[in-house]
Amino acid sequence: MHPITALQTEWSLFSRDVERSAVGAAAELGVAFVPYSPLGRGFLTGAFTDAGTDLSGSDFRQLLPRFTGDNAKANTALLAPLHKIAAGHGATTAQIALAWVQQRAQAHGLTVVPIPGTRKRTRLLENAAATRITLSAEELALLEPIAGQVAGDRYADMSLTSAAREG
Ligand SMILES: NC(=O)c1ccc[n+]([C@@H]2O[C@H](COP(=O)([O-])OP(=O)(O)OC[C@H]3O[C@@H](n4cnc5c(N)ncnc54)[C@H](OP(=O)(O)O)[C@@H]3O)[C@@H](O)[C@H]2O)c1
Repeated sequence: MHPITALQTEWSLFSRDVERSAVGAAAELGVAFVPYSPLGRGFLTGAFTDAGTDLSGSDFRQLLPRFTGDNAKANTALLAPLHKIAAGHGATTAQIALAWVQQRAQAHGLTVVPIPGTRKRTRLLENAAATRITLSAEELALLEPIAGQVAGDRYADMSLTSAAREG
């Protein structure tokens, strides 16, 4: 038996299944949460419309169902409330997606350290600044339906994902 300090797992506006299980357990046990891919692997930044054309040949996201074809088109449309809220805050879409993860985790009483990935210093600063954004109840309500409408699984072969994860 050993206490767990932190749990790193995917959590974003596009992937919220952890809220049905791990989040409650972590809050109860005082385990910190480290949401990975908090930008939906980049999709929530609004940078992609179709991975088949927007990503280079070696980028593994071309294999992810959410990033391609009709799914990508449908998922791009889901970003509309993010863009609207971002404009209202004078923020970027990425910052709103990160503020949502932070706020959602804090609402569950979790210590949270989202880890957005970037290769660019300017985006590192931009992403860090998202901690200063507070979303209103109305804004959170606008973002609430997104996860339930995402087209496509997290991975092409869901049997490769960790046990007990869904969707
Ligand atoms: N434990 C695990 O199993 C696991 C699995 C997956 C990922 N991770 C970790 O989680 C971290 C992040 O996950 P991730 O990289 O998969 O996904 P992510 O953070 O959701 O998205 C990263 C993508 O978003 C882009 N991006 C970042 N900030 C941006 C901004 N402000 N504006 C526009 N685009 C932006 C990045 O492009 P640029 O680089 O061009 O900025 C990159 O393409 C990484 O450290 C990764 O190692 C862990």
